Amino acid sequence: MTKVLSRKHLLSMKHLANADIYRIFEIAKDIEAGHVPSFHGKFAANLFLEPSTRTKSSFQVAERKLGLDLIDLEGATSSLTKGETLYDTLKTMEAIGVDVAVVRQSEVGLLNSCAGDLNLSLINAGDGCGEHPTQCLLDLYTIYEHFGQFEGLEVAIAGDLKHSRVARSNAFALEQLGAHVSFVTKPEWEDRSLATNYITMDEAVDRCDALMLLRIQHERHEQSTADQSYLEQYGLTKAREARMGPNSIILHPAPVNRGVEIDSDLVESDKSRIFRQMTNGVTIRMAIIQALLKGEL
Ligand code: CP
Repeated sequence: MTKVLSRKHLLSMKHLANADIYRIFEIAKDIEAGHVPSFHGKFAANLFLEPSTRTKSSFQVAERKLGLDLIDLEGATSSLTKGETLYDTLKTMEAIGVDVAVVRQSEVGLLNSCAGDLNLSLINAGDGCGEHPTQCLLDLYTIYEHFGQFEGLEVAIAGDLKHSRVARSNAFALEQLGAHVSFVTKPEWEDRSLATNYITMDEAVDRCDALMLLRIQHERHEQSTADQSYLEQYGLTKAREARMGPNSIILHPAPVNRGVEIDSDLVESDKSRIFRQMTNGVTIRMAIIQALLKGEL
């Protein structure tokens, strides 16, 4: 597969071949086995211009475990507030010796336009409704951990598809890896550029090996949804969970809106891998940083 950008950055799942994805898994396995390299003397800058709990804190943990020194830039107290561009902010990081920059921001495609001239490794930690490649890689790793392969797996992605960067990254990567992906959503959240094979939640629970739930992205549109009616029509109720296959699993990138897209009691149920995804997020982010800094992709 042709790479669109240099592999010193991770901006989109579309830039990774299957071999790259499996290489990241291999590094993650090594890390789990205790083979953790030290990047003492190198610097990571984290710039989160949209809210984050998991991605930001798991990058911080991953970077510290790898021995990196951290710069946590806050949008509100950085010179972005004085009109400095994101590109100039990142060039500044490069100039002062930062080796890897992790950025979450809202403009789709902005990081791609910055990356070409940067002599540091840039990681997309979520760009608006665009992509979330590190979330995708930890989701894939969690699925792989359970099933050991992707070929022929039935995966259903359910929720606010139109506004979801997680859906976009996962739909592409899962299909590339050989899984069959179906989608569940309200008609107004369908995205024909993402998918055409829409099914109902009842069909999804009957057929899927992995069910990936997404929250409603209230911050990206005006629509409000009565919680109970959304759960009954489009969400994972206890009755639907009982119909899922014995070896099937439930994923959610979180934050979870308990009682909206999933019954609260199912968040920590046997089938749920939601908190395992977060644990894997640290390992996978360590693996990604290692792969980029060592040029292993
Ligand atoms: N899954 C995810 O990106 O969570 P945060 O928004 O809390 O980082």
